[in-house]
Amino acid sequence: EDADRLARFQARIDADERIEPNDFMPAAYRRTLTRQISQHAHSEIIGMQPEGNWITRAPTLRRKAALLAKVQDECGHGLYLYAAAETLGATREELVDQLLAGRAKYSSIFNYPTLSWADIGAIGWLVDGAAIMNQIPLCRCSYGPYARAMIRVCKEESFHQRQGYEIMLTLARGTAEQREMAQDALNRWWWPSLMMFGPPDAASAHSDSSMRWKIKRFSNDELRRKFVDATVPQAHVLGLSIPDPALRYDSATGHWEHGAIDWEEFRQVIAGNGPCNRERLAARRQAHEDGAWVREAALAFAARRARAEAA
Ligand code: ACO
Repeated sequence: EDADRLARFQARIDADERIEPNDFMPAAYRRTLTRQISQHAHSEIIGMQPEGNWITRAPTLRRKAALLAKVQDECGHGLYLYAAAETLGATREELVDQLLAGRAKYSSIFNYPTLSWADIGAIGWLVDGAAIMNQIPLCRCSYGPYARAMIRVCKEESFHQRQGYEIMLTLARGTAEQREMAQDALNRWWWPSLMMFGPPDAASAHSDSSMRWKIKRFSNDELRRKFVDATVPQAHVLGLSIPDPALRYDSATGHWEHGAIDWEEFRQVIAGNGPCNRERLAARRQAHEDGAWVREAALAFAARRARAEAA
């Protein structure tokens, strides 16, 4: 790729132009987007499992309908995202095979178990809250198909966050036992939610190039800080306490300072050793096998139609 083309590409990025699938792009830009978008798609698909776990046990019909809709939204997000990744030249089969073979990453957060109904509230509030914080800037990402997919995804995530917060609010205003459930869920989901934003900036391998290409508009630490600043006051409204004895408000900066994150736990989860990694992949592989007949039927139908058209 000659220097001239690369300079023209960077000039388009600097001018906030959108890059579209048929435009010139450096191989490394294509690679990093394929990586990030496919990891994002896998996260949505694997992310259906922790919450899917509670659909049959939702406490009321209304809660069940909302949870069912939310999990279906996540499946839809996964499908838009695979389609966006396909515009970069990867095939859906390749990407799914990488996930099933354990060669692709997906968000660390989905390797934690959902032990009580309050976890559904905590996931909506914290996990979807963190996802929105990270994804709103992606609506302005330099790659057109990804940016456009994010607009609809963010609208749906915002509904997910509200339904989660409302579950937490209901529990927090309920019996002592319900408040305890809500606090326990916050205790277990708080730190993994902070880890969702990725390693600290100094250890983030892709940040420099992704910022230069305007794939990322904010660094991992910047987004994590915005999330903490937005979420701590919400915990106060709930009357719950953040499980971080070092958390303090810095009146000089106007930010909440949190304690140290256990990056060793993060590394373990990413390496496949989190509490549910094996279970999540096994369930995904089973679902894929169970769906084989659908793929076969679709292919057979397409072949029959092609023969009929040729005749
Ligand atoms: N879980 C798993 N892996 C992670 C996580 C995480 N929370 N954070 C970072 N990583 C991985 C990166 O994928 C990268 O691995 P790779 O080189 O093998 O691909 C490595 O750790 C180094 O991290 P960074 O250099 O900081 O990676 P990147 O620039 O891609 O930033 C981030 C990570 C912020 C997650 C980015 O990829 C992103 O914004 N992705 C889109 C959003 C997304 O995927 N959300 C998924 C969860 S939200 C939801 O689905 C509801």
